Amino acid sequence: MRRQAVVVGAGGISGAWLPVLPEEGVEVAGLVDLDESRARAQAAKCGLDPLVTTDMKRAIRQVRPDLVVDLTVPDAHSAVTCTALRLGCHVIGEKPMAASMGAARRMVRTAEETGRLYMVSQSRRYHAPHAGLARALAGGAVGRLTALNCAFYIGAHFGGFRDRMAHPLILDMAIHHFDLARLFSGADPRAVYAASFNPAGSWYAGDPAATCVFEMSNGVVFTYTGSWCAEGMHTSWHG
Ligand SMILES: NC(=O)c1ccc[n+]([C@@H]2O[C@H](COP(=O)([O-])OP(=O)(O)OC[C@H]3O[C@@H](n4cnc5c(N)ncnc54)[C@H](O)[C@@H]3O)[C@@H](O)[C@H]2O)c1
Repeated sequence: MRRQAVVVGAGGISGAWLPVLPEEGVEVAGLVDLDESRARAQAAKCGLDPLVTTDMKRAIRQVRPDLVVDLTVPDAHSAVTCTALRLGCHVIGEKPMAASMGAARRMVRTAEETGRLYMVSQSRRYHAPHAGLARALAGGAVGRLTALNCAFYIGAHFGGFRDRMAHPLILDMAIHHFDLARLFSGADPRAVYAASFNPAGSWYAGDPAATCVFEMSNGVVFTYTGSWCAEGMHTSWHG
């Protein structure tokens, strides 16, 4: 059955979603961005002809979509998602879920109150190597897992909202690695010690580096060191 979506946010990551939605039977009937010219340019680039506007409520009322796809910046996720849920739409949104625990709890409460489905896309667990490793670990390929380690070092020069966030690494990037630790361990974190910092030579206002020790609910210990302002010997984007 063909579904209709209003996509909110026409920045970098929309270039990954907009071509794929039609392939999956979802018509992009509306495209919303605070910068209308950016939305128009993205629609044209992807060969789409949606309603383009800066007003999400108007797009939802006019299109009456089955779902809203929230591709806005993290600070906007809570307001965009809660508004779309209250207007009767299911929502799938980009990670990170929200910029704070309070905002994330509001989103869960709104989904419960409205009876609509809210999902967060954690795309990296579906990469074939990650899915394969998770299957191998669950099948006992290395015996009982007791520890996981991840080191991540990339010098990312995106500009934009990441350069201004208080915790660009933890909120916007390490969330992928933390989710992979949940996938590989088959457990959720029970406790964490984390120290974030802003290394010398950094071009970020907030902390693009961190060291964390997680205690998972099944006793696995997950250690993480990462930096998003590391020039030189880079790891992969998966750590
Ligand atoms: N899964 C992944 O691998 C992956 C990769 C990149 C980005 N992301 C996530 O996607 C989201 C967007 O990242 P990006 O790189 O596309 O950012 P971006 O800054 O390139 O684009 C964000 C867009 O949202 C628009 N916007 C902001 N607030 C809005 C609002 N209230 N209503 C409508 N439009 C609004 C901005 O004008 C901008 O065009 C972030 O949450 C980011 O973490 C995920």
